[in-house]
Amino acid sequence: MKVLTVANRKGGAGKSTCAAHIAYEAVKSGLKVILIDMDPQKTLESWWQKREEENPFLVDTSADDLPDMLHKLALKNFDLCVIDTPGDASINASAGVKAADLILIPSKPTPPDLAAIGRTISLVEENKKGYAFVITQGIVRTKATLQAASVLSQFGAVAPSVISNRTSYANAMGQGVSAGSFDKVAEEEISNVWNFISGRLFDEQKNNKQKLTA
Ligand SMILES: Nc1ncnc2c1ncn2[C@@H]1O[C@H](COP(=O)(O)OP(=O)(O)OP(=O)(O)O)[C@@H](O)[C@H]1O
Ligand SMILES: [Mg+2]
Repeated sequence: MKVLTVANRKGGAGKSTCAAHIAYEAVKSGLKVILIDMDPQKTLESWWQKREEENPFLVDTSADDLPDMLHKLALKNFDLCVIDTPGDASINASAGVKAADLILIPSKPTPPDLAAIGRTISLVEENKKGYAFVITQGIVRTKATLQAASVLSQFGAVAPSVISNRTSYANAMGQGVSAGSFDKVAEEEISNVWNFISGRLFDEQKNNKQKLTA
């Protein structure tokens, strides 16, 4: 089981929206997915509560119990665990980062969000974790979005698609669905971001397998 943690110490970056949409896309690609919402606001959990399908599944845990919980989940044949974290420096946020195979850092393409990104990068690097960025709530091909991609790419890989500023994302969170269910542009964006993330999470495993048999 791979663990993807969505983190940004800035509030409102789009973490929960990304976590829900990535999990949805992972399920669509055939994976058995478990959600863990480490944020007391429970935005991801309330999206999940509105869903009818059981996959993605959801489980409650505390920061202290997270490592044991992940061990148990791996034994239950989950392929992917998506952890949403609060936008602060709490023990819940750091537990989510510590447990990750990869951290997805969503960021809005605005000067205050970019100026604050160093705090998140420090947290992730202190824990020696791999990370990648996705620009959220941006408008495609605007100067701000292009500049944000250029700034973020100095620190790490940036997802090839922006999750753009579309009401379909906010509506989807309120209805327990994916924005792609009623918005073709969003469907393509999320699919591109998921392909990028799944490549980073799972292809490394494939490479290791090749090395063992060589
Ligand atoms: N791509 C988008 N287009 C339009 N609105 C969006 C998009 N992504 C997020 N939002 C809206 O922005 C707000 C913050 O998004 P979200 O809750 O995903 O951020 P967050 O980083 O999880 O916030 P918090 O730090 O409070 O947990 C919400 O109202 C959400 O509906
Ligand atoms: Mg959130």
